[in-house]
Amino acid sequence: MSDIDFYSRLSNSLVKEEKLSRPVVIRGQYKEALELLEDAAASQLTPMLLGPPGTGKTIIARYFAEKQKVPFEWMTFDEATKPQHLVGSFDPAIAFKKGFTNDAFVPGPLTKMMVNGGIFFANELNRATEYTQNTLLEPLEERSIYLPRIGRIQAHENFFMIAAANPADLAGTYRLSEALKDRIKVWISLTYPEREVEIEIIKANIPEVQLNDYYIEKVHDLIAVTRNSKEVERPASIRTGIALAKLIWKKIEKEGDIDERDLENIAYRVLLGGIKFKPGIDREKAIWTVIKTGLKGEP
Ligand SMILES: Nc1ncnc2c1ncn2[C@@H]1O[C@H](COP(=O)(O)OP(=O)(O)OP(=O)(O)O)[C@@H](O)[C@H]1O
Ligand SMILES: [Mg+2]
Repeated sequence: MSDIDFYSRLSNSLVKEEKLSRPVVIRGQYKEALELLEDAAASQLTPMLLGPPGTGKTIIARYFAEKQKVPFEWMTFDEATKPQHLVGSFDPAIAFKKGFTNDAFVPGPLTKMMVNGGIFFANELNRATEYTQNTLLEPLEERSIYLPRIGRIQAHENFFMIAAANPADLAGTYRLSEALKDRIKVWISLTYPEREVEIEIIKANIPEVQLNDYYIEKVHDLIAVTRNSKEVERPASIRTGIALAKLIWKKIEKEGDIDERDLENIAYRVLLGGIKFKPGIDREKAIWTVIKTGLKGEP
């Protein structure tokens, strides 16, 4: 394949309008979270979504942005994230030719949302170093930020930041600085949704799959066991449930049927990386206990 093929494909694959491609289930904890986000935004108070991986933090923030009809930019933080990743920096080639002019400035997601008016979603914010976290103090307190060589800018009235973190990480090495914590005013907890809601979420994420309710219930039995087991440190997420349902459907579609043994094998393949056991637990033994208990429907 030539480079010309690549470049024409590249322009064809550009996303023109970033929209959620699947329906979002707004029931139970998600309804409450959405209302809290709305109230926080109306009072210009910064919220934090707290929940283990895959509990819907990103999707609820994106849904909220779509509902408010404002742009949405996000960034996942870690220890290598630097203030300029958030704020932006000068394009060296343009700056060399024209100097440090405004059009040589390439904005980061925070600056973009502050200027254009929109939601900046700070994912895993607690993983950033305090140095990087400090970049957010002025935008959250004063709704302004200093851009080197440009000057101080005032945020658009629609600028709003939503943070997210995994509560288990909050106690770890990287924590939210006290200064930043003091500027986050609405704490919204998300957890694994109740059974009925989660089943609806799984179905909403696999519209192409016509798995009957018997198997969807089995999938939920399996993931529910991982959440109740004392041996499990990180249980199966909603994503794991979606993956199980997809693979079960593939097998049925290909072979017309599925037996207990196939179900067990699929569960093993997905759960192997989809859950984490506590230290010292015999993983192989524990995973089969989860599978046998789950498939018997006794979470
Ligand atoms: N309310 C919901 N409606 C529809 N789908 C949902 C809902 N909640 C979660 N999901 C689905 O579950 C999966 C995980 O959701 P999401 O990515 O928002 O979780 P997260 O908490 O941001 O995870 P992470 O901590 O890994 O970033 C996605 O596939 C998403 O589509
Ligand atoms: Mg996320």
